Amino acid sequence: MKIDILTLFPNMFDGVFEESIIKRAIEEGKVEINLVNFREYTKDPHHKVDDTPYGGGAGMVLMCQPIFDCVNHLKTEDSTVILLTPGGVPYKQEMAYELSNSKHLILICGHYEGFDERIKSICDKEISIGDYVLTGGEIPAMVLVDSITRLLPGVITDESHINDSFHDHLLDYPTYTKPRVYEGMEVPEVLVSGDHKKIEEYRKSESIRLTKENRPDLLEE
Ligand code: ADE
Repeated sequence: MKIDILTLFPNMFDGVFEESIIKRAIEEGKVEINLVNFREYTKDPHHKVDDTPYGGGAGMVLMCQPIFDCVNHLKTEDSTVILLTPGGVPYKQEMAYELSNSKHLILICGHYEGFDERIKSICDKEISIGDYVLTGGEIPAMVLVDSITRLLPGVITDESHINDSFHDHLLDYPTYTKPRVYEGMEVPEVLVSGDHKKIEEYRKSESIRLTKENRPDLLEE
């Protein structure tokens, strides 16, 4: 998979993809990530990428031209173009699975007060990572890259995905490791029983209990 990230602040990504699982996926050629500063595409003599909003109001608005030209340059018939915006559809694990089947993602990070509405016309999807407003789309782009890359074939084991929270609309069951007793808190007996059927039943019921407690909305789905 190839992922192009269109951003005015490529330095924000320093280090993010240089550790652990994502680093290994890049090294093994399972994902290629390119940071593209769309300021390089502006035709403005002063390298402007934004301007004041028509109708008045605070802040600056990203202009169409640099982003249109940048996307047109990178886009192929295999591309999915995504705009990161708090006004987009909520990002869910299901969407991470769907996007992990794409060959090429182009992620557009908005910034400042907003972007010219016409930029949406060149996007296939508008995505929000949550009901809060960040200073730009860079952190949301990192969230997408991380959650999608780990689903690519061979990046982590298939068993790890199956046990993920949100699989089957349930949160993950609790896990424990050594020691068996820590500050008086014991590992549940069933997990050391060696009875695999009982362990499976325990994990399922704990998943349901935790989902009821923390995310009842998932059970309604
Ligand atoms: N840009 C600013 N806030 C955002 C959010 N919550 N999701 C996606 N893009 C954003």
